[in-house]
Amino acid sequence: MLTQAWPIMAAAICGIQISCLITVESLSEADKIQTLPGQPQVSFQQFGGYISVDEKQDRALFYYFVEAETDPASKPLVLWLNGGPGCSSVGAGAFSEHGPFKPSGQILLKNDYSWNKEANILYLESPAGVGFSYSADASFYAGVDDNMTARDNLAFLENWFNKFPEYKNRDFFIAGESYGGHYVPQLAQLIIQSKVQFNLKGIAIGNPLLEFNTDFNSTGEYYWSHGLVSDDTYELFNNVCNYSQIRRQAQNNALTPICSRVFNQASREMSKFINGYDVTLDVCLTTVGSQAQVLSQLQETEKIDVCVEDETFIYLNREDVQKAFHARLVGITGWSVCSDVLHYDMQNLEIPTIPVLGSLVKSGIRVLVYSGDQDSVIPLTGTRKLVNGLARELGLNTTDPYRVWFEGSQVAGWTQGKAKTSLLSMVSSPYSSPGIR
Ligand SMILES: *[C@@H]1O[C@H](CO)[C@@H](O)[C@H](O)[C@H]1NC(C)=O
Ligand SMILES: *[C@@H]1O[C@H](CO)[C@@H](O)[C@H](O)[C@H]1NC(C)=O
Ligand SMILES: *[C@@H]1O[C@H](CO)[C@@H](O)[C@H](O)[C@H]1NC(C)=O
Ligand SMILES: *[C@@H]1O[C@H](CO)[C@@H](O)[C@H](O)[C@H]1NC(C)=O
Repeated sequence: MLTQAWPIMAAAICGIQISCLITVESLSEADKIQTLPGQPQVSFQQFGGYISVDEKQDRALFYYFVEAETDPASKPLVLWLNGGPGCSSVGAGAFSEHGPFKPSGQILLKNDYSWNKEANILYLESPAGVGFSYSADASFYAGVDDNMTARDNLAFLENWFNKFPEYKNRDFFIAGESYGGHYVPQLAQLIIQSKVQFNLKGIAIGNPLLEFNTDFNSTGEYYWSHGLVSDDTYELFNNVCNYSQIRRQAQNNALTPICSRVFNQASREMSKFINGYDVTLDVCLTTVGSQAQVLSQLQETEKIDVCVEDETFIYLNREDVQKAFHARLVGITGWSVCSDVLHYDMQNLEIPTIPVLGSLVKSGIRVLVYSGDQDSVIPLTGTRKLVNGLARELGLNTTDPYRVWFEGSQVAGWTQGKAKTSLLSMVSSPYSSPGIR
């Protein structure tokens, strides 16, 4: 299993009559992770390192690649992108959400729900300035936008495939969440436009930002329908200042007094003991900064470690861990889950990506949109409106009527499929993972 999956470049230097000298050299070998500090023994291979996206300006992106637990050669390749903009796919995706391990104190615990049971997963910290990814020239960070991110991600993939040539023709999927609703379809579209020879089959996006007004406005109704704010506040959202206005003004540092009043009232009512990305989940009390609010001891032991982001922060800042990952700190004093140095062009949040999904579907790329219904940041309701609108516009017919789907014998969520020649489907799940970014 090991040798078969190894990226091998074989060059045969053959003497004319007699013998062949075979030199076997693996480009990816230098990035192979021997073992991560505190990890349980596993049978799959892990790689970590840098791929240059701009030699001249010394800009390089950091990746963490985990091969599938079993038979990696027969499984697809999935690129995973967290959002933010500016948050880390290694810290959030790999170590807090669906990677093979979760940090707990000094050690790593095996994650029973790891996505590498199904696929080879490539976690990419993007754009430069996020996580361990860097630009030696710090002026790059001044105004990074969606186009620059997509271009660098494409350059990353081209060079990564050179390092891992046996993955070049593999069925390839791009997945992500939240602001990944921009990164993922935009990268897919650029791949198609650039006519590079990747075997892109589909994309998957969870609680994705697709259209500013619809997505963010739906937060107001979400809060109210989940009892997080009063009827009075909901009236204010309806008649005085809606949530997409609040969001727009806040990110432009231009909250009007009236919207500020609505926002403050809502925040007071919700309290700080709520995780906006999963409103029914416990919060990590050290994160919230209160030791006094010890939540009920009567509760069943939680299977989800709500402090996993804190644990990840500590773990990824260990020197021995960084060394094992082949990671370096360039221009920063420590690793952080969301970038402190990057100044992303926040106007890009206003770019609608729902039309990009439409053009991908027309190109024959399969699109999966899935939502956890406990996420108040990009609620299911807004996503549903947008995706249904797109399906109507494209004239797609329902191929898989709205129905429950199961995990074992329990209902895990609802799903629906629509298609022309390609498939557009939507899954909603009553569960979502903590700390979605
Ligand atoms: C980004 O790329 C899109 C599509 O190629 C283009 O329409 C748009 O003008 C670009 N934006 C900027 C700021 O360069
Ligand atoms: C939010 O309120 C503004 C100002 O009244 C309005 O122009 C906008 O259409 C509203 N947005 C939504 C999504 O309802
Ligand atoms: C925006 O949200 C408010 C509730 O907060 C709702 O009354 C209004 O209809 C929404 N606007 C749109 C265009 O969906
Ligand atoms: C949808 O179904 C109708 C009726 O069966 C058919 O006429 C139409 O071509 C279908 N549309 C697409 C996009 O497949």
